[in-house]
Amino acid sequence: MHTSKVHLTAALIAAVATLAACAPATATGGGVDSGPGADLYENHCLECHESTVHVRERHAARTFEEVQTWVRRWAQYRELDWNEDEIRAVSTYLNERYYRY
Ligand code: HEC
Repeated sequence: MHTSKVHLTAALIAAVATLAACAPATATGGGVDSGPGADLYENHCLECHESTVHVRERHAARTFEEVQTWVRRWAQYRELDWNEDEIRAVSTYLNERYYRY
């Protein structure tokens, strides 16, 4: 559907603008439960990941930087060709939702 694509783009731009206003490593946006990062993650990553990977006791990712490294790695693995904004949107979503660094 056309409208949802437009919505996603608008939301992505909004998220990027918000992030740009924050310090890059601290991503304390809040309210990303249904943002572009959530959509991207649900569309491309959830088939393997139920939330369990991220809520296990010992996270492989121990900093926000490492979360981003994982996201980048998985995006490459899936050949999604995500740009930095998309990687950051998904990392922020995961961080807000599970890690809280
Ligand atoms: C083929 C199945 C599969 C797909 C698809 C997949 N993942 Fe994963 N992911 C895993 C597994 C399994 C692990 C645990 C790896 C480990 O601990 O060594 C993992 C680990 C991770 C971690 C680190 C979790 C931690 O412990 O902190 C992140 C972040 C992550 N994946 C993000 C993503 C993102 C973003 C996508 C979509 C672009 C994605 N994954 C797609 C299977 C998958």
